Amino acid sequence: MRLFAAIDIPVDVRGKLEDVVALWKPLAKISWSPIDNLHITTKFIGEWPEARLDELKATLASVPGTGAIKIAIRGIGWFPDERRPRVLWAGVQADESLAKLAHATEQAVAKLGVPVEDRPYSPHLTLARIRDGSAYKSGSFKVEPLDGLRAAVAKSNTDFGSFSADRFTLYLSATGRYTPLASFLLAAAAVPS
Ligand code: 2AM
Repeated sequence: MRLFAAIDIPVDVRGKLEDVVALWKPLAKISWSPIDNLHITTKFIGEWPEARLDELKATLASVPGTGAIKIAIRGIGWFPDERRPRVLWAGVQADESLAKLAHATEQAVAKLGVPVEDRPYSPHLTLARIRDGSAYKSGSFKVEPLDGLRAAVAKSNTDFGSFSADRFTLYLSATGRYTPLASFLLAAAAVPS
């Protein structure tokens, strides 16, 4: 089973993203993410044996609590960059507790053998994937196929609101669908009295 840990996006923020994406979708034939699939990955786990699922859940439950994390979804960008577009993303702004959660989750599951990422943690929401990046590379066309989308993005309000995340969720990824398997509260670490 293919697994990852993520923070969910509340319905009001998803609604704002949905409204804007509905305007952008007709402008570019790229692989738009279903809005209900949007999430902030905190740790990609990858292939995991089903027989060891309880062990993984117990490990995730032991990740030190950060307390609720205040998150704003704001801004639009491209990975790796606008001229070599592979992914269109919405920005995730949070204080250091989000990166701390990602790091703590990574450290916890590394003890079970899950590989550590060699790239820095870069939280984002994948709005769309551009499968054949080379076809969209700047200079490949007289009229750039993503220019209409780029112009629309530049004119849009890309403040999608903020929320407080009080949990993260273990997801199963199968045939393009994400199924929640378990959630873990981000209770604040107890302060010694
Ligand atoms: P992405 O949207 O930026 O691709 C499920 O695949 C989730 O795990 C996605 O949010 C995906 O991020 C994330 N993820 C992180 N590292 C990944 C990897 N090496 N392979 C696939 N997905 C990864």
